[in-house]
Amino acid sequence: MDLMQRTLIEKAETVHQLTEEELAALLSASDAETELAAAADRVRCATVGDEVHLRGLIEFSSYCRQNCLYCGLRRDNQKAQRYRLTRPEIVALAEKAKAAGYPTVVMQSGEDAWFTAERLADIVREVKRLGLTVTLSVGERTTDEYRVLREAGTDRFLLRIETTDREIYERLDPGMSFGNRLRCLTDLKKLGYEVGTGCLVGLPGQTVESLARDILFFQKIDADMVGIGPLVPNGDTPLGNEPPGDMRLVRRMVSAIRLLLPEANIPATTAMETLQPGARELMLRSGANVMMPNVTEGEARQKYALYPGKACVADTPEHCRACMEGRIRAMGRTVGKGAGGRRHIA
Ligand code: 5AD
Ligand code: SF4
Ligand code: FES
Repeated sequence: MDLMQRTLIEKAETVHQLTEEELAALLSASDAETELAAAADRVRCATVGDEVHLRGLIEFSSYCRQNCLYCGLRRDNQKAQRYRLTRPEIVALAEKAKAAGYPTVVMQSGEDAWFTAERLADIVREVKRLGLTVTLSVGERTTDEYRVLREAGTDRFLLRIETTDREIYERLDPGMSFGNRLRCLTDLKKLGYEVGTGCLVGLPGQTVESLARDILFFQKIDADMVGIGPLVPNGDTPLGNEPPGDMRLVRRMVSAIRLLLPEANIPATTAMETLQPGARELMLRSGANVMMPNVTEGEARQKYALYPGKACVADTPEHCRACMEGRIRAMGRTVGKGAGGRRHIA
């Protein structure tokens, strides 16, 4: 590590601000990775503490009207196995998540028009009656739909920007507009959701400068949660022959995000674990503080295939719950007790 890198890490750790050029320099600094992660781990400890928050992930529909070039759920993927859970099935999974001790459920699907805002709102109201914190991750909707879902009691919403490079975004997500993506995120913030966003690492054409701008974007919109993941090439998609995202760069991203958004919730994601077993622990020591164990059961669990080799598809929800708790304790951390919302420290 050279003096410039040390100075940048110190600056990030103390003032939580860097320019695009400075961020890009840190993201390229593979020889400063350990020090960067150590600084992020200190900031994580000082701001969000030692608790690791678990969110029970319910993947309730694999139908999607979009056609993102990297994703196994894209509408042109004839090999995707489509399913849609019923309302009682979704509520039953939420009940199980609650019984297993998860205070928060994340209900995720492809962009499935069958689930109108009204239908989703009915399900949200029922799940809210269980006393759970509810996060939705159902893609782009109109302002009115987001309002209906918020009024039904939805607490949080996840919508990754995927990349802030408009040209890459519109090339990889054909038919989708970057402007509408921004509109969605602005709406969600205005409606009072806790907003999670994030990006993919390893998209064709993406540079460290572009990733630096992604981080500045997360800061600008004051993201409450930032989930990132490496591209995991899916052979049934047009990006099937791309190289996988660089896990070391992913780690530097996690650390840099923690330094620039000290209060944010940052998950150690399944895609990371898929490319590198043990990555979740590594990321929890490099700035991350959240995990999202899958609570989807049975066939749906393997049918929700964004990318191949997804960690834990063959495991049961009970097994993952126990496994994660053990791993968290073994690291000297604790399982989060409350809903684990965004902290406001400043
Ligand atoms: N590799 C990694 N992540 C992917 N996603 C979709 N396809 C892939 C893939 N092949 C991510 C997107 C989306 C989230 C739900 O899953 O970033 O926002
Ligand atoms: Fe659909 Fe989301 Fe996959 Fe794009 S990334 S195809 S919107 S499920
Ligand atoms: Fe699924 Fe460990 S978290 S088996």
